[in-house]
Amino acid sequence: PLVALVLAGGTGTRLYPASRSHRPKQFLSLVGDDSLLSQTVARADFADHVFVSTRPDFADDVADHAPDAEVITEPVAKDTGPALVYATHRIREEVGDCVVLVLPSDHTVSGEFQAVAETGTRVASETGALVTFGVDPSRPDTGYGYIEPGASRDLAGETYFDLAAFHEKPDAETAGEYVDAGYYWNAGIFAWTPDALLSAARDSPLELLVDALDAGDEAEGFEAVPEVSIDYAVMERAEDAAVVPAGFDWDDLGSWDALERVLDADDAGNVALGESLTVDAADNVVVADGARVSLVGVSDLAVVAWDDRVLVVPKAEAQRVREVVSILKENG
Ligand code: GDD
Ligand code: MG
Repeated sequence: PLVALVLAGGTGTRLYPASRSHRPKQFLSLVGDDSLLSQTVARADFADHVFVSTRPDFADDVADHAPDAEVITEPVAKDTGPALVYATHRIREEVGDCVVLVLPSDHTVSGEFQAVAETGTRVASETGALVTFGVDPSRPDTGYGYIEPGASRDLAGETYFDLAAFHEKPDAETAGEYVDAGYYWNAGIFAWTPDALLSAARDSPLELLVDALDAGDEAEGFEAVPEVSIDYAVMERAEDAAVVPAGFDWDDLGSWDALERVLDADDAGNVALGESLTVDAADNVVVADGARVSLVGVSDLAVVAWDDRVLVVPKAEAQRVREVVSILKENG
């Protein structure tokens, strides 16, 4: 069977102040009427089973946004490495032999998604490789993983590549070199059999957790395992991995500048959610939830008013919003 595993345990700090610890971005309806999580679950409707993986404090919200999915709650949130090992282990116990298709819940996707996903799951089940999906990069973005394609392969008329190397979130200069060299962006979507993922995790910092789960001691495993994403822990050192070119439109709504790629701009290049007024202002992103926001004579900013909070940041530095969140966390 084909099992969709939707990831919904992140905190989305770069979308502060819309995304907050009690209401992270997967539960927001930023693009379209439904939340990003509901849209992701709907996109997975061709799977035989749909599971959603999350952290303990989000379990009730997940059940509201994905009423027909089965929720897997990891005991402690330690990023996607531990979360995916835990969920894949549970799925092997509950479903048995299967292919798992991992879907992050912070993406907008359109076009030929199902056909490409099915090619990936077929490669995973027939070759035992860890399968990634590669997006053609349009800029040297430092928020993504980069995949160097190796030898070209064919499965039933569909082309995919061996994965020669995986580099998570390089600096800007290195990202530019990867774009020039023809690498792909990692879409963050994966396909694997439980055995393939768990045996790769045994050769990684996640080994402690795999062993503890095998021994039936998840509390001890989560205590010992480091907080690390699947990209750093497993994909960067994977020996048997493949990349399927993602022939669908894809974007990660990771930071405020992403909105200008998914919303229609006015004549001056401004994009807006909510009520805004611009005078002699160009190329801004404005988000006004319950407030009326006016911009005069400024350009290339992201201005976000949400609840009783306001954020102003140059679009080019939108990744730095996470610095605000960590300062707020420190100061309570
Ligand atoms: N269950 C669970 N537990 N889910 C989590 C956790 C956790 O502790 N942390 C994050 N997630 C979920 C998020 O909600 C999101 O849906 C998904 O896992 C990916 O996490 P992000 O934090 O958004 O990752 P990223 O965007 O920085 O990087 C990943 O995605 C990029 C493409 O969007 C990497 O895979 C990159 O290589 C990739 O390019
Ligand atoms: Mg993301």
